[in-house]
Amino acid sequence: MVGKVLNYFIETIGCQMNIYESNKLGLALSAYGVSKVNVLQEANIVILNTCSVRLQSEQKAFSFLGRAEELKKDNPNIKIIVIGCMAERIGFKIQQRFKSVDLIVGSKDIDNAVLKIVNLCNLYDFSFDKVEDFSNIVRYVTIMRGCDNYCSYCIVPLVRGREIGFNALDILEESSLLIKNGTKEVVLLGQNVNSYRYKNFNFTSLVKSLATINGLERIRFMTNHPKDLSDELIEMMATESKVCSHIHLPMQSASNKVLKAMNRKYSYEHYIGLVKKLRMAVPNIRITTDIIVGFPGETKEDFEETFKAVKEIRFGGLYVFRYSSRPDTKAANMFDNTSLKEKKMRHRLILEESNKISVEIVKSMVGNAQQVLVEKIKNGVIEARTSGGYKVFVTGGSEKDLGRHLNVSIKEAKVNSLFGDIV
Ligand code: SAH
Ligand code: SF4
Ligand code: F3S
Repeated sequence: MVGKVLNYFIETIGCQMNIYESNKLGLALSAYGVSKVNVLQEANIVILNTCSVRLQSEQKAFSFLGRAEELKKDNPNIKIIVIGCMAERIGFKIQQRFKSVDLIVGSKDIDNAVLKIVNLCNLYDFSFDKVEDFSNIVRYVTIMRGCDNYCSYCIVPLVRGREIGFNALDILEESSLLIKNGTKEVVLLGQNVNSYRYKNFNFTSLVKSLATINGLERIRFMTNHPKDLSDELIEMMATESKVCSHIHLPMQSASNKVLKAMNRKYSYEHYIGLVKKLRMAVPNIRITTDIIVGFPGETKEDFEETFKAVKEIRFGGLYVFRYSSRPDTKAANMFDNTSLKEKKMRHRLILEESNKISVEIVKSMVGNAQQVLVEKIKNGVIEARTSGGYKVFVTGGSEKDLGRHLNVSIKEAKVNSLFGDIV
C-alpha cells in the first residue's frame, strides 16, 4: 500500500472502553499518515471494534462485516480488521464466515493492534505530528482492564480477563498531557472503578491526586459497582469540587432473589442505602443506572419490585436491557423462563416509567440557573453539559467560550437535553 493515500474508517460497538480504544488506535494511525474518514465507502482500511455483551451487539458486527465485504468485492485492496471483545471470543468463527477479513485482534491483545495493522498495511512511521484534536474538551482515560466480578450473566470477565489497575502515575501523566492540549474534563473508565488498586493508590486517592492538576476542571468516572462504593468515595464526591455530581450505579434488579442469582453481591436494601447516602452527601446528585429484565427465574413479582424501585428512586436516567444469554456464563445454564414477548413488555414498562420521570426532572430545572462546561460549538450553537451530565444547548455565546464554564438560565427542557441562555 506504499505510495497510496491511506485512510481508515472505524466502526465502534460497545462500551466507553471500546470508544476510548478506538480513539487511541486512530491517533496512533495518524502518526503513520493514515487519516480518518467518516464514510465507509471512502476507506481503504476498515476497522470494526466489537462487543459481545449481548447477542444484539454481535449481530450488529456481523451486519457491518456483510457491508464491508460487499465493498471489498469492488475494491480488493481494502483491508478489513476486526478488533475487540467479539474478536477475542469468536475470532476464528468470524474468520471462517467472512473470508475477506484480513486481521483479527482480540481485546486481550489490544496493545499489539497498532503493530499488527502497521505490518498488515505496510505502513511507515513518518512521525506525522500527532494531530491532537484541540477541541476535545472531554476525554476518556482508562484506569483498569478486565473484571473479576463474574456477574452470572456477563461475558466481560471472559473476554477482557482479570482485573488489573493501571499504573497511577501513568494515568496522572496521560491526564496531564490531555489537559496541556486543552482538555478540561477527564472521564475515568473501568468496569468497576471503585475497586481500582495500584500499589498504595485506591480509587479515591487516585481521584484526589487527579484533582490537584491545574487546568483540569471536571472529573467523571464510570462504572461503579454498588458492592464496592465506599463511604470514603462518597465523602470525596461531597468535598472535591472538581468531581461531577453524577454517578452511574447499575442496580440491575431490585429483587434480592434475582440479585443473588446474578451474583451481584449486594441486596436491594444495600443499594437503597447507597442512594440515600449519596443524596445526603451530594445535594442534587444525578444517579443513573442499568437494569436487566427477564433474567432467568425473574417472576412477575420480581419484576414488580424492580418497577417499583424505579418509580421510587427516581433515577436521573437509565439503560434497560432484555436479558441475553451469553455462552459460557453461569446464567447460560439457568432456565430462561421469560418469553421474548414478556421481556419486551417489561423492557417497555421500565423505559416508559423512566422517561416520564426523566422529563419531570428536567422540566423542574426550567427557570433555574446552571453552571455548564462548554464542550462544542456547532453553527453558532454552544453545546455544554451540567455537572450532572445533562446536555445544554446555549444561545448567545461565541468561539472563545469553548472549554469555559458559563452560567446559563434554563428556558426549555426535553427528555435528555436542555436549552438555555447565558446569564
Ligand atoms: N461493568 C459494568 C457494566 C458493563 S456491561 C457494571 O457492572 O456496571 C453494561 C450493562 O449491560 C450491564 O450493567 C448490564 O445491565 C448489561 N448486561 C450485561 N450483560 C448482559 C446480558 N447478558 N444480557 C443483558 N444485559 C446485559
Ligand atoms: Fe460484567 Fe459484573 Fe464485571 Fe460489570 S461487574 S463487567 S456486569 S461481571
Ligand atoms: Fe462490550 Fe467488551 Fe465493553 S463485551 S461492553 S465492549 S468490555
